[in-house]
Amino acid sequence: MNTDASIISIEYLDILRSLPEIQAYKKISYELLNIKARQKILEVGCATGEDVRALAERVGLKGQVVGIDVDIAMIEEAQKRTKNASLPIKFDQGDAEKLNFADHSFDGCRAERLLHLLDQPLKALQEMTRVVRPGGRVVLGEPDWATLAIYPSGPSIDTSVFEFDQSAIMGRRLSSLFKQAGLQVLKIVPVTCVITDFSLANQAFHLKSQILSAVNRGMISNSIALEWLIDLAESAQKGEFFSSLTGFIVCGQKPLD
Ligand SMILES: C[S@@+](CC[C@H](N)C(=O)[O-])C[C@H]1O[C@@H](n2cnc3c(N)ncnc32)[C@H](O)[C@@H]1O
Repeated sequence: MNTDASIISIEYLDILRSLPEIQAYKKISYELLNIKARQKILEVGCATGEDVRALAERVGLKGQVVGIDVDIAMIEEAQKRTKNASLPIKFDQGDAEKLNFADHSFDGCRAERLLHLLDQPLKALQEMTRVVRPGGRVVLGEPDWATLAIYPSGPSIDTSVFEFDQSAIMGRRLSSLFKQAGLQVLKIVPVTCVITDFSLANQAFHLKSQILSAVNRGMISNSIALEWLIDLAESAQKGEFFSSLTGFIVCGQKPLD
């Protein structure tokens, strides 16, 4: 499964954000941060800043939300989208694996669909833990691509022909990484995203490129792949197409000293 950061475009993020399940997933993660007015929250991998703006509503004008992203184009877009909002927000370019903040400088930290893109996910989580105060919360959500389900899938083919490396299964690894980073796991919440529109599923779950990659790795032949794609397109026309993917939100707390 391709978890390459280079496939993340602003357009792709806007499409995903429009899905009701992603909206629900975001709301759950905001609630789990247990935010109080005047708190200082860090959003890592903030992209175009929608979550930063939503969190800023919760900390109030006397709090602060800082959003960082390694991609300067995302930070510029986040600033552009925030121009007219009078919210206590700051955006900066920064690397999740080497956070440029002092120990204990935030009350909470949130990241969404970030760790599966990183070479050193544990290092990033350790950094988030370091910059959060004792008793503060860290809330992360990650997809688990090995839960991808597609219908129709044919008698001899299904999503088992896709390749799922350790990054692709970040959702199920997340609570273990929290423990390794020294966080106490308070809650694990599964969120399943169902898409019955083939074209949308293709964009959100990269279906065609995954089928193509299965051909390139010799898992299925060209003709089987073609047959599958025709089957999917026909089922879409009849309104019978189904796809789903489950992600996991983990809420952790930094122990009091
Ligand atoms: C899937 S997007 C986050 C989506 C966002 N939560 C939303 O709903 O729009 C992941 C973001 O992490 C950023 N990113 C990737 N590697 C990073 C790193 N090492 N440090 C900080 N941000 C990183 C990417 O540029 C991208 O904007």
